[in-house]
Amino acid sequence: MRRAIELARLAWGATHPNPMVGALIVEDGTVVAEGWHEKDGGPHAERMALAQLGRAPKPGASMYVTLEPCCTHGRTGACTDAIKASGIRRVVIGATDPNPAHAVHGHEVLREAGIEVVPDVLADDCADLNLIFNHWITAKSPLFALKLASTLDGRLACRSGESKWITNEQSRADVMAWRRLFPAIAVGSGTVVKDNPRLTARMPGEAEWCPLRFVFDGRLRTVDERSMPALYTDEFRARTVVVTTNHSGEGYVRKLRALGVQVWVLPSLTTRVPLDQFRQRCVQEGINGVFFEGGTVLTSAFLHQRQFDYLFMYRAPLILADEKSKPTFSGLRTEHLAQGIRLQGLRLQSFGDDVLQRGRIVYPDSLHVDEARFSMG
Ligand SMILES: NC(=O)c1ccc[n+]([C@@H]2O[C@H](COP(=O)([O-])OP(=O)(O)OC[C@H]3O[C@@H](n4cnc5c(N)ncnc54)[C@H](OP(=O)(O)O)[C@@H]3O)[C@@H](O)[C@H]2O)c1
Repeated sequence: MRRAIELARLAWGATHPNPMVGALIVEDGTVVAEGWHEKDGGPHAERMALAQLGRAPKPGASMYVTLEPCCTHGRTGACTDAIKASGIRRVVIGATDPNPAHAVHGHEVLREAGIEVVPDVLADDCADLNLIFNHWITAKSPLFALKLASTLDGRLACRSGESKWITNEQSRADVMAWRRLFPAIAVGSGTVVKDNPRLTARMPGEAEWCPLRFVFDGRLRTVDERSMPALYTDEFRARTVVVTTNHSGEGYVRKLRALGVQVWVLPSLTTRVPLDQFRQRCVQEGINGVFFEGGTVLTSAFLHQRQFDYLFMYRAPLILADEKSKPTFSGLRTEHLAQGIRLQGLRLQSFGDDVLQRGRIVYPDSLHVDEARFSMG
């Protein structure tokens, strides 16, 4: 199953809105065929492995597959039919189909055909492959994930604003891999003005990859006639989407569109982008995951409005101990631990001396926003 997970990962970022899936066939303790789902619309992993085998499997052959085989006739036909027709009599399955309408039906269909089914093998690791897909299917909404790089005392930058680099090169390489996975990435206007980021995935041996790049800028303060940010002028500018409000100047909107940049104008009572409407628009556009990279103002607003679903927290062994340095989050009034926000399904990884903690965000029943200290807009 570990090998099947490796196979699934070969399509990292290429299968949206479909999941990544790996499959292999074992005869007499030896892997004789491998397959993975390469891209949306392409054959499923099970069919790829059977095609690679190119002959009838030997009696006693097993198939290992990271996700429960589909039993409904989509664009490519049910995989359970292909397995039944192949003559394979044993199927080892990682994660169960996250769609409640289909979950364990694949197991049942195979068992009814007299095939032995071994479910839940490395189930958590197999499910972790498809964080975005699982959320999209179950919540029918995009996975909004926040990435932060902080010190041990939870700071994002020194009081001077210096933040390059808190985490080490290995952590930053891992961030590049997540950028390659998510179909979209997002930052606030403050980050664009201060850092002029490129927001692409740059991985060794691979061409630079550009996800959709969202800039939250309610009043288009990033549009500077004298020096436009790289996001609006580089070769990937057609992949930049400025999310703004009806309070921004129409001339600026036209200017961005003339540059080839996309603009979403969302109606708002204030100059701040309404986050629930942004989510709705992502649903309409079929964007199933967004990776948020800051900064503090935007991400605190998302947190206060319960808009983040997942957190990636890279922590470096560094302490600033300066109350004027930039905190990861702010603006809540948390009197009791029960009012805190928790992570579930936590995963820990080390990158040299840095640690990544990542997991699903679980909000308490009510969050108390301290309006005096923080304006949500
Ligand atoms: N260590 C890390 O992981 C990390 C990651 C990214 C950034 N950073 C650092 O963070 C700093 C920038 O952060 P920042 O807090 O100044 O700016 P920011 O969060 O990047 O941008 C905030 C701005 O976004 C606009 N916005 C639009 N809709 C919004 C909404 N619904 N809610 C909140 N804001 C909305 C607002 O512009 P208006 O004021 O015009 O309304 C707001 O001021 C930089 O120094 C950067 O280096 C650190």
